[in-house]
Amino acid sequence: MKKIFAANWKLFKSPQETRSFLNSFKKVFSQATGEVVFFPPAISIEAASECLKGSGIHFGAQNCHAQVQGAFTGENSAQVLKELGGTYLLIGHSERRQIFSENDSMIGEKVALAQNLGLIPMLCIGETLEERESIHTFRILETQLALGLSKADPSKPLVVAYEPVWAIGTGKVATPEQVSETHTDVYNILQRLGFTAPILYGGSVKPDNASNLLAQSHVGGFLVGGASLEVESFIKIAST
Ligand code: 13P
Repeated sequence: MKKIFAANWKLFKSPQETRSFLNSFKKVFSQATGEVVFFPPAISIEAASECLKGSGIHFGAQNCHAQVQGAFTGENSAQVLKELGGTYLLIGHSERRQIFSENDSMIGEKVALAQNLGLIPMLCIGETLEERESIHTFRILETQLALGLSKADPSKPLVVAYEPVWAIGTGKVATPEQVSETHTDVYNILQRLGFTAPILYGGSVKPDNASNLLAQSHVGGFLVGGASLEVESFIKIAST
């Protein structure tokens, strides 16, 4: 199956910076060995949409509200993302869970909405360091998946991104053994719930650790933060 290389830009890159990055990226895109997806900040999505038209490169939003419209000041609409040509919707990133208090039930609503609109939800799951150290990882991931997918349709496309919270932006990448073991757990939990989905790894992925991580069992690609902000490092990862 084709690998997926996704770039989560978080709150970086203006519309102008987005255009400039994507125009450079398009020149090297042929080196990519899988599908490429960009998640720019909401205000730069339209710039990405214009730049990527007809390129074969996908884009999506980092979050949306669980309703398509209404009195929700400051929120963004998944319907508008769809109208702009977006393909993916990132849902339940650990920064959304921790900083913006998103819970599994809100996340489950968003996954269902994305699927209903014909977008592909990229559901993020992952444990904190305390949870891993107290050997709760399996139970945490099982709960996040069961609740996050409680309203999802197994016949519609879905992507899961496993991002251990302690590896995000810390430079502390999970070991290949940890990745292999946890991705196998995630694969088995998904099977038990009746879903099949590519499982991406995220957390301090860099050009020098990408090929070793990609070789582990059930690793369907990467969700990259910091190293996706430069064309050179991201294309190196996407051509792993
Ligand atoms: P880093 O690659 O910067 O660790 O971020 C990972 C991440 O949060 C992607 O969603």
